[in-house]
Amino acid sequence: MLQDPMLQVSRLAKTYGFGADATHAVGDISFEVARSEFVCIVGPSGCGKTTLLKMLCGLLAPTSGEITLGGRRVTEPPEEMALVFQDYSRSLYPWMRVGENIAFPLLRQRGLSRADRRERVRQAVEAVGLTGFIDGYPWQLSGGMQQRVAIARGLAYQPQILLMDEPFASVDAQTRADLEDLLLRVRHEYGVTVLFVTHDIDESVYLADRVVVLTPRPTEVQEVLEIELPRPRNQVTTKELPEFARLRAHVYRAIKRPERAPEDVSGNASEKAASAPVL
Ligand SMILES: Nc1ncnc2c1ncn2[C@@H]1O[C@H](COP(=O)(O)OP(=O)(O)OP(=O)(O)O)[C@@H](O)[C@H]1O
Ligand SMILES: [Mg+2]
Repeated sequence: MLQDPMLQVSRLAKTYGFGADATHAVGDISFEVARSEFVCIVGPSGCGKTTLLKMLCGLLAPTSGEITLGGRRVTEPPEEMALVFQDYSRSLYPWMRVGENIAFPLLRQRGLSRADRRERVRQAVEAVGLTGFIDGYPWQLSGGMQQRVAIARGLAYQPQILLMDEPFASVDAQTRADLEDLLLRVRHEYGVTVLFVTHDIDESVYLADRVVVLTPRPTEVQEVLEIELPRPRNQVTTKELPEFARLRAHVYRAIKRPERAPEDVSGNASEKAASAPVL
């Protein structure tokens, strides 16, 4: 049990459909996220990560189990939560300018004046380095810049917890590394709690304070790993650390464990496996 859990997930399960057509997506999941913690959830493709995230943010009713945020049970999207999806091209409104896209969810926050909203948008746009583009349209920006707008929208909302579902999966490797560092920086500045879903093992180890490793579907928690790499992290020096290589190989083996072939147990094959971390 954590000292100060912000999010508590208890025996959560989800089955889509009934009878012979049923898909058991989430088996039985329990974990906690502490205030200001950065937790990555990593699991094989199709194991139920998005299903889990949709339940956590109140968009999908679980078949059984319970989620509490700040001590209150989640039954509908909580105001204290913001969500950043993988597909930025579908999550931004093409007819709204960058600033308007970021301001839009703020309209939901009662008691926020127009001046407050404008200031929140200005700060968030500055944090993601898009000040000069506030009056542009999303379609005038590159994919990486559009994803930065989506991050800025999450930040401007000033949620207690930011949920992210493979937010950098559709950008190139260099942009992805830049966005990871941007996220770590703004997370530090805003002090926001982050729950980040990915199937990229390197990314999970690089970003997280703890990594929750999921099994294949119906998914369960296979292992929870403390990541005690020093911060601030750096794309070159952090990834050169022996501890980084050890952790990433450990997560890789944990994910591969259920279907591991006998030859994968040998040192050589495991090293090869660890150098190909994206599932
Ligand atoms: N609305 C739905 N109705 C029925 N089955 C669904 C629905 N959404 C997801 N599933 C099934 O639930 C399982 C888990 O899907 P989910 O999208 O949660 O996995 P994921 O881990 O996010 O996958 P990916 O790595 O591809 O993003 C899959 O077998 C999927 O086909
Ligand atoms: Mg998914």
